[in-house]
Amino acid sequence: MHPSEELKTMDTAVKLTEKFLEADLSRGALVLAIGGGITTDIAGFAASMYKRGIRWAAFPTTLLAQVDAAIGGKTGVNLHGYKNMLGAFHMPEFTFLTSSVLETLPEKELRCGLAEMLKTFLIGDADAYKKCIAGGITNDLIFRAASIKADIVCRDPLEHGERAVLNLGHTFGHAIEHCSKGAIAHGEAVGMGIILAARLSEGLGLAQKGLAARLQEDFQRVGLETSCPYGIDELTAAMKKDKKDGKFVLLKGIGQPVITTVKEDDLRKYTE
Ligand code: GLY
Repeated sequence: MHPSEELKTMDTAVKLTEKFLEADLSRGALVLAIGGGITTDIAGFAASMYKRGIRWAAFPTTLLAQVDAAIGGKTGVNLHGYKNMLGAFHMPEFTFLTSSVLETLPEKELRCGLAEMLKTFLIGDADAYKKCIAGGITNDLIFRAASIKADIVCRDPLEHGERAVLNLGHTFGHAIEHCSKGAIAHGEAVGMGIILAARLSEGLGLAQKGLAARLQEDFQRVGLETSCPYGIDELTAAMKKDKKDGKFVLLKGIGQPVITTVKEDDLRKYTE
């Protein structure tokens, strides 16, 4: 079965638990999820349900999963095309990173992971952000992005506060993915979502003028698509179903995230 957002469903997760049952997995078993973020999300979720939770660990084979999806125990599946609407926090025993698996990764996959790396640096390390824009993906920067995320998760595993900053670009990003019906991958959508979030930050007076243009120029320089093909009406309809309850992660500047509620009028005014 080739992993895809369409197959990231409760049905697939339940099928996996049926395999666990067939294999007689005991409560002490450990499920090892090898693959990209879709695979680690589904496998972790199946492990969270089976016998009220068995252990699992992640061996992420995409850049995006190495720096984001396979770290921190957010597991889940989509519901009616809405991202990760069913899920559980279920921490992996470990997440094993090795750059050797990235050598054969297609360009598109690398770009998706790069978007998540830049997101992490935009919220947590301005210096690494500059290095990544200037020098691209390096092993040190992959490790840095994964470490920043792991530290945030250790401080706030269940997203009662700080962890939410990791959702920069995701409220828009999930809506873009939904509107695209799978044509735009998660990382690509997050890249576009960050630019929209920067425009909103400027419009609301949180960030200085020029932030969105700077990020757009940076993202284009490293090969990321920055223009969202959907209008705000389409995005707003999809965002209403998202889990973020009208909350957006915005930027005061690079390395300075802020979480705020945004009125629909402002959303339209500054992102149209
Ligand atoms: N991808 C955001 C988080 O794990 O919190």
